[in-house]
Amino acid sequence: MRVSARDIERAWDALGTLRGWDFSKVRDARGPTPWDYDDVVRAHLRPEHRVLDVGTGGGERFIGLASEFRHGVGVDAARSMLGTARDNASRAGAHEMTFALMDAAALAFGEASFDVVLTRHVQIHEEQIARVLRPGGLFITQEVGYDNTLNIWPAFGWDREAWGWDTDTVLAALVPRLRDAGFHIRTQCEYDVPYMFLDLESFLFWIRSVPFPEEVTLDAHGDALLRFVRDNSSADGIHTNEQRILVVAEKVA
Ligand SMILES: C[S@@+](CC[C@H](N)C(=O)[O-])C[C@H]1O[C@@H](n2cnc3c(N)ncnc32)[C@H](O)[C@@H]1O
Repeated sequence: MRVSARDIERAWDALGTLRGWDFSKVRDARGPTPWDYDDVVRAHLRPEHRVLDVGTGGGERFIGLASEFRHGVGVDAARSMLGTARDNASRAGAHEMTFALMDAAALAFGEASFDVVLTRHVQIHEEQIARVLRPGGLFITQEVGYDNTLNIWPAFGWDREAWGWDTDTVLAALVPRLRDAGFHIRTQCEYDVPYMFLDLESFLFWIRSVPFPEEVTLDAHGDALLRFVRDNSSADGIHTNEQRILVVAEKVA
């Protein structure tokens, strides 16, 4: 992929804005992965379940699972996300789902209120999750791994450790925390696969939208963007890696 500074400027100016947490317009490809988050969650859901999704964003994932359980509550600390989530649920006909403004560190639900708690790509507060789960209930989480998109960090002069990536991103650190909070680990796994943006617009939209140590702007990062694309492209696309961790844990009675 041959790219000039002018190509980057043109693509940048035409980028749309992120709505909720919707990356469906990003054209990408990844190496084979050992699991798919939606499939894993679906396999554990039952029609009678009460399910909580913490850090639900615009509910994009959660709403897609609505037909699998009885009652779903999505919570998020950002008010703007809740408006999007309610709108998305209404469009999808998921009228039974509710959404609330709430901090994951202070879940405003009673003990044993849920059969399943989900978190995907959001900080885990395991004591809160253990408290609101019934004994025997399941906590299912997929998190971004510590070594995710590894070539991005040095190319933009960012330091992962200084930014404070925490133990949610490393299985060997997360699993003991969950055990200490009263969980039995049913499944723990990790993948790290090649990941590729299929066009320049998709890469720019992604890097401008996901949390990094600083907001990516054309003024501040134009040179770094051009260098990264030139150094990490093939005819197929722009290359990095995707690392994810997955845990399915049961609250011990
Ligand atoms: C990376 S997005 C993931 C959204 C969604 N779970 C998904 O996988 O598409 C993280 C979400 O967590 C929310 N969030 C971050 N910190 C939070 C907290 N302390 N309590 C509740 N939500 C939080 C953010 O507002 C954002 O919507």
